[in-house]
Amino acid sequence: MKKILITRKLIKESEDKASQTFDPIFNTNDELYSQSKVIEMSKGCNGILTSLTDKMDKETINKLPDTIKIISNFAVGFGNIDLDAAKQKGIAVTNTPEVLSDATAEIGILLILGACRRASEGIVSAQEGGWKWSADYLIGKQLTGARLGILGMGRIGQKIAKIAKSLGMIIHYHNRSKLSEEKELGATYHDSIKSLFSVSDVLSICCPATKETENMINKETVEFFPKGAVITNVARGDIVDDEALIDALNRRKIYAAGLDVYKNEPNLNPGYNKIKSVFILPHLGSATKDTRIAMANLAIDNIDEFFKTGNCKNKVN
Ligand code: GLV
Repeated sequence: MKKILITRKLIKESEDKASQTFDPIFNTNDELYSQSKVIEMSKGCNGILTSLTDKMDKETINKLPDTIKIISNFAVGFGNIDLDAAKQKGIAVTNTPEVLSDATAEIGILLILGACRRASEGIVSAQEGGWKWSADYLIGKQLTGARLGILGMGRIGQKIAKIAKSLGMIIHYHNRSKLSEEKELGATYHDSIKSLFSVSDVLSICCPATKETENMINKETVEFFPKGAVITNVARGDIVDDEALIDALNRRKIYAAGLDVYKNEPNLNPGYNKIKSVFILPHLGSATKDTRIAMANLAIDNIDEFFKTGNCKNKVN
């Protein structure tokens, strides 16, 4: 049986599956391992099942024992892993696409609703009590008829587009390539972010974090938006330059932001705390029981497929 290090605690059903498939090392206390601890604990192992909280940078990967042949990431995103370093060391990297698209799209819609309809301010007022209804009390932005720009029209982006369309939003998108009409569902394609941002009353960031998308929302690009636009991010914090967004929010160039992800998680840039129109969640995109089980099971199946066939359909490097 292959020996596998599983760096974070999984839901019981998935740990049971791992025990039936491999000889696993579990993290029973769900301690956040340091990079040196991951290196140390992976001695004698054939693979590692990592989470997005594990920083598998070049230095860490180079120090892994030669017996490690696969890093199976328990996430669709893999910005926490240096793919080239892994490839050079002959380590396959896999991810868990598709199974989390529905849950993540739900959070993407929650971010749009929460930011546009001033949910953070509403929650505080309701909890404090003493709020007074008036015709213009906590007026927000209506989604019906608003233009939603989707940056990254993959599975999650397409699902958000579908739900947003049913809410009466008009969908625009930018992607590396134009989708087929069948997948586009009437959405308008933009071949540049400038063109997309200039028609986005609301933006939903759904693209992967790569060298190309790092800080795509920045001091310069934030000016492309119509005044009073709303920016939401369900993808990865690295795509947004926080200082630029905070500045745009303070100037009211950007009306509100909805963020499920941000740089340096779990430590939020304190600049956001002073802005009432920010609706922030602690990276809940895939956080439903069914989805987390499906993700972990797929991460386990990816390792199994790799050792049985020498390849894996979810290999990303
Ligand atoms: C969650 O953020 C994931 O990438 O799976």
